[in-house]
Amino acid sequence: MKWFINTLSTSIGKKLLMAVTGLGFICFLLVHLAGNLTIYGGKDVFNSYSEHLHALGPIVHIAELGLLAMALVHISIGIILFFQNLRARSSRYVMNVRAGGRTIGSATMPYTGLIILLFVILHLVQFHFTDKTHTNIFQIVAMAFNNPLYVVIYTLVMGILAIHISHGFWSLFQTLGANHPKYSPAVFVFGIGLSIIFGIGFGFLPIYVAFSV
Ligand code: HEM
Repeated sequence: MKWFINTLSTSIGKKLLMAVTGLGFICFLLVHLAGNLTIYGGKDVFNSYSEHLHALGPIVHIAELGLLAMALVHISIGIILFFQNLRARSSRYVMNVRAGGRTIGSATMPYTGLIILLFVILHLVQFHFTDKTHTNIFQIVAMAFNNPLYVVIYTLVMGILAIHISHGFWSLFQTLGANHPKYSPAVFVFGIGLSIIFGIGFGFLPIYVAFSV
């Protein structure tokens, strides 16, 4: 615990924890997207994917605890950095120029982050903490996207998620040391590509389910 508090108290420590947890979320999202794409296989394929996943039992619970811990760290440091930046901006003597210049992604990180947090709470209530005894996961997803409001919310938030990741991916690689002029442009392009994959990959699913089920 002491190392954690020590790491939190330094600026580079905070950036490192932010980068490592951010990378963890990107790995989770890649696995989650791959799993969700089984929706295109239809009801049986998607339910079977979900059953196989839950059959992993303790491994899933450990992964869930890991996600929760990462979320707590990422959100706490995000809030600390937000207020530090706010204080720095109000000081006339401090220049607040972000590395890599200002992009929509870099300028909106705290706000897109907050929207993603609110989305995840809604998402977990809808799909995770719901009674599944007399239904199955495909039916729960189909019911949700029968409501045009949820299709709009999900599709919009997936665009916001893409904006958050477009800067987050680049930024985390800067923190982890890939800030060499030779690699930075490639990391930037890869980050944009990844955010487009997440935006379209997740964002098209609700529309597909709404129109096909
Ligand atoms: C169209 C987009 C998405 C669909 C259709 C979808 C669908 C699902 C489904 C069916 C579950 C499984 C619930 C269960 O079996 O317990 C789930 C869990 C979850 N989703 Fe999503 N998801 C989407 C996007 C996202 C995004 C963008 C995030 C994060 C930013 C996210 C985070 C989570 C988390 C944290 C869980 C809980 C995982 C667990 O505890 O096992 N999802 N989602």
